[in-house]
Amino acid sequence: MRGVGWADAEPIPAQPPPGTSAVEIVVAKRDCRELTRDQIDWVVGAYARGEVAEEQMAALAMAILLNGMDADETAHWTQAMIDSGETLDFGDVGRPLVDKHSTGGVGDKITLMLAPLVAACGAAVPQLSGRGLGHTGGTLDKLEAIPGWRAELSTEEIRAQLRAVGAVVCATTPTLAPADRRLYALRDVTGTVESVPLIASSIMSKKLAEGTGGLVLDVKVGSGAFMKTRARAGELADAMTAIGAAHGLPTTAVLTDMSVPLGRCVGNALEVAEAVEVLRGGGPPDLVTLTVTLASEMLALAGITGADPAGVLASGAAYEVWDRMIRAQGGDPDAALPAARHVETVTAERAGVFVSADAMAVGTAAWRLGAGRARKEDPVQAAAGVRLLVDPGDEVQPGTPLLELHTDTPEKLPDARRALGGAALLVISEPPRPRELVLDVRRSR
Ligand code: URA
Repeated sequence: MRGVGWADAEPIPAQPPPGTSAVEIVVAKRDCRELTRDQIDWVVGAYARGEVAEEQMAALAMAILLNGMDADETAHWTQAMIDSGETLDFGDVGRPLVDKHSTGGVGDKITLMLAPLVAACGAAVPQLSGRGLGHTGGTLDKLEAIPGWRAELSTEEIRAQLRAVGAVVCATTPTLAPADRRLYALRDVTGTVESVPLIASSIMSKKLAEGTGGLVLDVKVGSGAFMKTRARAGELADAMTAIGAAHGLPTTAVLTDMSVPLGRCVGNALEVAEAVEVLRGGGPPDLVTLTVTLASEMLALAGITGADPAGVLASGAAYEVWDRMIRAQGGDPDAALPAARHVETVTAERAGVFVSADAMAVGTAAWRLGAGRARKEDPVQAAAGVRLLVDPGDEVQPGTPLLELHTDTPEKLPDARRALGGAALLVISEPPRPRELVLDVRRSR
């Protein structure tokens, strides 16, 4: 029986159930054993509460990277990350909810066109995004190039905007999957980012916590992507669609090429201007194709049949939603975008056919010019970036302008030029093969 004064006693710190101490869990995965549901629930929850030491979680992340997790473990791991924070529910906004996530690419401004386009076709898109790190830019950084635009919204502001406009692109809240936030920062400094189950559970926990009703994943493949080969990208796509299936979230993964940049512009304000061209019915064909392909997949998941996303995009109806979406978040869609103080042109050294601008090289050049950040807390230059002036297949002569480098800090130009050196800008005598943009589609069952 409990003695007198029990209610006033000090709370007993949470103890792991037998077999679930941090060391036992690290040893189990080190020895290639499957983790139990209790072990996963405890270690992820306790880590989020600060009750598991960083070195123990680092050891576990490395053991998972080396020895993997199967589909059940990965689904439980994802659930434990969701359970570490709050979940959102926008089921009352009056339209079917559907979202998209890209694994990140160079010049990937697809969200800017896709969210208003899918909303213009009748769905609601709650796109909670992050900022960019390294050579791929973040969607919020791009939108912040628009004067007045605000990334931080409350849950009630998101709900009101979904009802009124149908599309929201805003900063994710710190309360969504907080275990992932902490674990991702640890993986970043312990060489454990590149684990398929950890990447898949990281991405899916945030999307599941956001409460979307369907999810399209744009899994990038190639030099400018996280996943350099089709096989690795397929592995990640399968892991994410399996998590979607385990959680009852209809999920479609589209594998798309990221060996060269998307569109002709890389850098925050440059990409916004290019996205607006597409929303006004123009723009580079690869951006139009990918936007319409992903919109079709999203509308199918939302159960919206009979919509014609290509026609809606060409008609300017998506631009109208963009205009309202930007204004709803304090931005002025008609304001001039920031322009760089220094623009340098890179020209062809010999005659031939322009084949490609390597995505990694262009992304790195834009990053060096100030468009991206090396550490989370670094500022970005809104106007910095790279604008390509030729398309693959164009004939060039010595001196033909190939691209422009934009920056406010000209001392960064030599670094950017170095990043573009070597085979980054390929000019040869044979015409290139046409680019295969959409490589594969995989669906949750
Ligand atoms: N993006 C994420 O959100 N998580 C990862 O682990 C990798 C990329």
